[in-house]
Amino acid sequence: MNILLLGSGGREHALAWKLSQSPLLTKLYIAPGNAGTSKTGTNLELDLTDFHSIRDAVIALNINMVIVGPEDPLVNGIHDFFLADQDIRHVPVIGPVKKAAMLEGSKDFAKQFMNRNGIPTARHQTFDITSLDKGIEFLHTLSAPYVLKADGLASGKGVIICKDLGEAVKELRHMLEDSSFGAASQQVVIEEFLSGIELSVFILADGKNYLLLPEAKDYKKIGEGDTGPNTGGMGSISPVPFADDIFMEKVKQQIILPTMSGLLAEGIEYKGFIFFGLIKVGEDPYVIEYNCRLGDPETESLIPRLRNDLVQLFKAVANQSLDTETISVDPQFAASVMLVSNGYPEAYEKGKVIAGEEKVNDSLVFHAGTKLNSEKGHAVSNGGRVMAVTSMGLTMQEALGKSYKNAAQINFEGKHFRTDIGFDL
Ligand code: AMP
Ligand code: GLY
Repeated sequence: MNILLLGSGGREHALAWKLSQSPLLTKLYIAPGNAGTSKTGTNLELDLTDFHSIRDAVIALNINMVIVGPEDPLVNGIHDFFLADQDIRHVPVIGPVKKAAMLEGSKDFAKQFMNRNGIPTARHQTFDITSLDKGIEFLHTLSAPYVLKADGLASGKGVIICKDLGEAVKELRHMLEDSSFGAASQQVVIEEFLSGIELSVFILADGKNYLLLPEAKDYKKIGEGDTGPNTGGMGSISPVPFADDIFMEKVKQQIILPTMSGLLAEGIEYKGFIFFGLIKVGEDPYVIEYNCRLGDPETESLIPRLRNDLVQLFKAVANQSLDTETISVDPQFAASVMLVSNGYPEAYEKGKVIAGEEKVNDSLVFHAGTKLNSEKGHAVSNGGRVMAVTSMGLTMQEALGKSYKNAAQINFEGKHFRTDIGFDL
């Protein structure tokens, strides 16, 4: 079958790498892709906000399945767009319809869904400009630190954690009065701060059944020891040792099953990945957030551990037959280290020549912000997160050792990476 994968990050290179190994695949297209995906399939220059041009490509290239990597097209209703169009409605889309993608697209929607379904999460209230005073009152009922979240999509930057009340009140005003996150902060969710250790849990759902995928831990902060500003993610580890059987059974009973039955009860047919951003408080899991897609860089350590044929799994999502599949996982550790541009997550330069990838031995390199210099035939940096180096090992240390050895082989001006991925495990 012919598959179109949407997206251009490390997550999409990892997915493309995996899809390209399937005997069920005929042709793989990635839009817009990066220098790495161009080696596993054919990149298409499509704008992911322009669903009509995606439709035209699907028809022209006889695409049999569309897999959506990032959240934006899902929250903007790409799945619904396909279902509403006579000519492409037969093409399965892996990724939820808009209503379900609201689990990520609106933090208030997600919170209300969790409350309706008894899913553990931080206590919260939602405010808009007309209820600013009530928001300030609510802040007074909480204790520091204070968590403020823009309701809508804000490229992963919409959560502000304030150390004191004054700062929190100022930030709330800024979000509501000055629209500091544009339309995304028309509503602000204020919630109780939870103290614990985070992890990312993933399922693949077909609308009725689901399969649990390997969990992973992501390192979001730019600096060693989890300090400094948030990034898209600086590295990941899978499996997560503290996610033992007892803990994962709680995740299943208290979070995954109520989420699935809640979706069903609300008439939402969820076909795609659900990413549960969890925090372990004491011995119990709480939901920090839902995402309607896989995580990046979690995918770069999750996918190399997955032994299944991914195309076969996606076909089962489309046919609603995931109950006939089982997940098979490599028990080894996977460790992924992200190489980023100097200055990231603030301003950084692009277009730096990437050298040394051919010297990498016993690791996988997944490109993220890269593009091919078509004249010279080499890859150049084209984003803050440039590439992820993933390795497997019997222990986390062995996997990390390989990733760090190979991270040193790759060079581009201003290359930076965290040297302490996995430090807290
Ligand atoms: P989110 O975009 O919702 O994942 O939030 C980004 C990050 O903010 C999370 O990964 C957490 O580290 C932190 N965070 C969000 N909500 C809370 C909370 N209620 N308590 C503590 N930390 C939080
Ligand atoms: N790694 C976190 C995310 O993809 O949102």
